[in-house]
Amino acid sequence: MISQDSIQQILSRIDIVEIVGSFIKLKKRGANYLGLCPFHNEKTPSFTVSPAKEIYKCFGCGRSGNSIGFLMEAEKYSYVEALRWLAAKYNVEIEESETSPEYKLQQQAADSLYIINSFAQKYFTEALLNSEEGQDIALSYLKERGFREEIITKFQLGYNSEAKDGFTKAALAAQYSLAYLQKTGLVNVRDDNAYDNYRGRIIFPIHNQSGKVLGFGARIIKKNDKAPKYINSPENEIYVKSKLLYGSYFARQAIDKADECLLVEGYTDVVSLHQAGIENVVASGGTSLTPDQLRLIKKYTNNLTIIYDGDSAGIKAALRGLDLALEESLNVKLVLIPDGEDPDSYVNKVGSAEFISFVNQNKKDFILFQLGIALKDAGNDNTKKSIVVNQIAETISKINKTEDFTKQQDYIKQCSEILKIEESGLHALVNKFIREKVNKDETRVSRDQKFAEENIGTKQHPVIDQDVTALFNKDESHEQAMIRSLLEFGLKDWTDEQKVADYMFKEIEENQLEELIDNKELIQILHTYKAWYEAGIEPTAKNFLYHENLSMSSLVVSIMDFNYEISTNWKTHFEGHIATREELFAEEVFSTLNYLKLRKIKRLIDENQRDLEKSTVAEDQMLLVQTHQHLKQMEIELTRQLGTVIFR
Ligand code: UTP
Ligand code: MN
Repeated sequence: MISQDSIQQILSRIDIVEIVGSFIKLKKRGANYLGLCPFHNEKTPSFTVSPAKEIYKCFGCGRSGNSIGFLMEAEKYSYVEALRWLAAKYNVEIEESETSPEYKLQQQAADSLYIINSFAQKYFTEALLNSEEGQDIALSYLKERGFREEIITKFQLGYNSEAKDGFTKAALAAQYSLAYLQKTGLVNVRDDNAYDNYRGRIIFPIHNQSGKVLGFGARIIKKNDKAPKYINSPENEIYVKSKLLYGSYFARQAIDKADECLLVEGYTDVVSLHQAGIENVVASGGTSLTPDQLRLIKKYTNNLTIIYDGDSAGIKAALRGLDLALEESLNVKLVLIPDGEDPDSYVNKVGSAEFISFVNQNKKDFILFQLGIALKDAGNDNTKKSIVVNQIAETISKINKTEDFTKQQDYIKQCSEILKIEESGLHALVNKFIREKVNKDETRVSRDQKFAEENIGTKQHPVIDQDVTALFNKDESHEQAMIRSLLEFGLKDWTDEQKVADYMFKEIEENQLEELIDNKELIQILHTYKAWYEAGIEPTAKNFLYHENLSMSSLVVSIMDFNYEISTNWKTHFEGHIATREELFAEEVFSTLNYLKLRKIKRLIDENQRDLEKSTVAEDQMLLVQTHQHLKQMEIELTRQLGTVIFR
């Protein structure tokens, strides 16, 4: 946990223009700054940054947020990672609060491993480019394979000599601890002798999302039956194979832009495709994709295209675990490279244009492909065939999001054609799997629900009509307008003794908050505001923007008014004075509150009306009629007030 104190220090230094400006070019336009949106492709800038409000908003794609939100979106950071990035940028020393000693130790270990890896990467690169052995054996090998120096430098490739312990000696001389050197897998110890683990190998550093070196893959140069082709880093505090994809650091922006991630098997495939200008590509190392890796991809795109060589043993491995991709609504396509080539050799052979068109023309749907393989394996064996039908039905049942419904129907149709079975039969089977899954989930839920019902003491469930809720949502803008006037004007003077916030809360209390505002999240904002206000913390919009409850902060961003500067041209042209919201704040406070009060009264009138229709007792009816008149009177009064305020 980062201490509250450190967070405050970081927040006090944040300059959103500077932060966003380090990613995109911004131009001053009135009080705001304008640039090309980094989140969608556009030619005319609609991405606006307000330094005063410390928020950004794109009028093209609608994305908006604060500095932290920007970093989370642009760099796919978590909240804490974004804070750390800012701390590093503004030289704020982060104090960690409530960290366990184990966590601290682990952090220290991770830091040490990163430092050693960075040292090693530089050592290996130097050896590749500037040592005689490196140039003669490794650089010449890479160049022969078609890798140019530019790309070698970009991917920070390296070489380690065939000598026994050159790196080990250099690292120990630089005071790195032997224990950590072993942990990184760079150094081995046998019979009290420390020596280099990767000898006579090309070194591929593996980077994390922010470019730090997590570990290495080391490829042998001279063919040797006894030694493995690649040696990879062992698992440690920072190298966790199941969570990384080789090349993701260099590919992330291209994946975002292309809205597609290409997945290949090997290190060399990634580097070669990059060199050919195809940069939205990562490698899995030939193993099946893990949930963490799929999540990594999903941060950038929903479209995954797997490009493997046709006779790779890795295909089946890659396809395993992809049911999970379906559950996550990823669209998975598969392309097989023909004739014993892999993406690296194929792109070198045909060039990038032809490679891209081959990929585009040969994308196969992965479910249908999987079905093809399974059917081929089953041959004429009917038992095996029915297993295939079951498996494919289960796979299709994993597509269970409502928005993917059409996709699911398409699969049922296509698969039943390939399988030569009745479409309705496959349909029923898929539904069976869906039901089974729902049942499984429900047994878990129903226990909790039963408990909750017993505690509330009611077994009735209100029936909520979807159409009705939708109708009410239209009213939400008025609820938001009220919160907005509180956020923006709450600390202004209302009377000599009262601030706007005092007045608003008095009014809200008299009318009962829950009857004025339906939206639970807006109610939460009000509660937070009040708690801060009463505790003497300034409940400014800025404090909300950086609230760690992200849904609350993004809601605040979305209801904030983006001040449009009226251009000076227009001002002189118009010549008159245009009143700003700022100047009319009292009227805004008044009218936003009154609108909600009016809505409440209208609802009460409706309710009263319904009671009246149902009532058969004369006395009750009398009372209800009186109430009606009373409410009507209030409605007229409020409407009059609203009218004068609005139309004055
Ligand atoms: P490949 O054998 O296809 O190697 O293994 P490659 O990447 O195409 O390398 P070149 O082109 O022959 O030089 C694919 C990937 O599988 C992993 C590596 O990540 C490799 O890039 N692998 C392979 C290992 O981890 N260990 C091995 O011994 C072999
Ligand atoms: Mn290869």
